[in-house]
Amino acid sequence: MAKSKIAYFCQSCGFESPKWLGKCPSCQQWNTFVEEVIEKGGSQAPAWKPASTSQQRANKPVEISAITYSEEHRLPTPDKEFNRVLGGGIVPGSLVLIGGEPGIGKSTLMLQLALNMPGQKVLYVSGEESERQIKMRAERLPAPHPEGGVKNSGLRNPEDLQARPSAGGCYILVETSTQNIFKQIEALEPDLLVIDSIQTLHSAHIESTPGSVSQVRECTAELLRFAKETSTPVFLIGHITKDGMIAGPKILEHMVDTVLQFEGDRHHVYRILRTIKNRFGSASELGIYEMMGEGLREVSNPSEILLSHRDTPLSGVTISATLEGMRPMLIETQALVSASPYGTPQRTATGFDTKRMSMLLAVLEKRCGFRLGVKDVFLNITGGIRVEDPAIDLGLAAAIISSHEDIPIPFKTCFAGELGLSGEIRAVNRVEQRIAEAQKLGFNQIFISKYNLPASGQDKKRMDLSRYNIDIKIVSTIEEVFSLLFG
Ligand code: TYD
Ligand code: MG
Repeated sequence: MAKSKIAYFCQSCGFESPKWLGKCPSCQQWNTFVEEVIEKGGSQAPAWKPASTSQQRANKPVEISAITYSEEHRLPTPDKEFNRVLGGGIVPGSLVLIGGEPGIGKSTLMLQLALNMPGQKVLYVSGEESERQIKMRAERLPAPHPEGGVKNSGLRNPEDLQARPSAGGCYILVETSTQNIFKQIEALEPDLLVIDSIQTLHSAHIESTPGSVSQVRECTAELLRFAKETSTPVFLIGHITKDGMIAGPKILEHMVDTVLQFEGDRHHVYRILRTIKNRFGSASELGIYEMMGEGLREVSNPSEILLSHRDTPLSGVTISATLEGMRPMLIETQALVSASPYGTPQRTATGFDTKRMSMLLAVLEKRCGFRLGVKDVFLNITGGIRVEDPAIDLGLAAAIISSHEDIPIPFKTCFAGELGLSGEIRAVNRVEQRIAEAQKLGFNQIFISKYNLPASGQDKKRMDLSRYNIDIKIVSTIEEVFSLLFG
């Protein structure tokens, strides 16, 4: 029996210490250290033993111009939203982490992908559900892609492998030990591996329980080695803890190539797949899905679903032209300002940062003289979507004032501008894309910042607003916006 070794791990950031500490020196959190038994068992065979390690080749520095590469080949998936967040398809040998709260639909998303990969052999490893449960779920999901290699819902057991070893398809393995998983992988040789979830795996090299920092780290490291050595893409599903961190320990985030977050309000049907980190593409992309009775449906035109189609204008409702990643999106923003029945006014924001809301209210109070300090203010971004684009400021400010004054904003009006502390409307990025989207959806006017226009000395041709047949209102301060809107 190998001698067991004990270490203490910070549950928040994964910092390792030989003795217990009250405060983590890495992330400064208190009381986060937990004892974990780590046992480097000398007798066990390594989980993933790549052929090349035996040669112990030492790398030499190479001048960058001398490095050659071929245009990396990406594996497109039938899911366009998924391709978008990955930056154009799956990169061979990449390790992708998909985080999200329990019950949000991570398993559904990945199983749907596994079932629909055309001509690929996918191994879906589940440590959470039984084969029957997965089969039942698969039966509910939409029919596999017509040109895909998956037939009649495609689920097979690894034992059937001998019959048709080269065919594509989706294989299910219910297993939690990494040693056994790698054994099955060697026999099956899948083109794609999905792990549901990383917190349920355990490696025989580490004694501590599945889901602990040292286990999660070791299992991810083994899968990382496997992905890089064999160029097989690996998707890891990871649960998010209450405070929003993927797998508790942040350590996972820097080990993997791409971190995607699946989020949304469980009471709404829309789900957002957001890129948090991507070594192979933009980190601000967004995919939108609708959770249906039969799985997830891609939403390719988000603006149309995020706008409500009402006939009479209401006070406190505005439309903002936002941009998520490369995609413009028109979103309905709502505000409700009412007299506070109690001494302390309430401020609640759904889908928007509360601190930023306080800032907007302070600017409106100080620069425009609205007495909002004694009012309850509620903000809501429809569809259960969280928006980080600062261009939404102007639309929200207009909604707050519209509700406060009880005057509706004219129909077919939208906004794109950031609000500065002095009440100035600041420029936003890619304003032309926002204007084009507003025009496409039949809006009559859009408010944008003066600072988005090229300065007088600059090339005027760079931005030609005359080619849009939408009324573009150029504003520089919040006061100007209100005199234009409410006279
Ligand atoms: P699941 O993928 O199990 O979530 P996670 O793996 O993130 O924990 O999703 C579970 C939820 O999704 C569950 O509340 C039911 C709902 N759901 C549907 O609405 N339609 C479907 O077709 C499926 C499979 C699930
Ligand atoms: Mg699940």
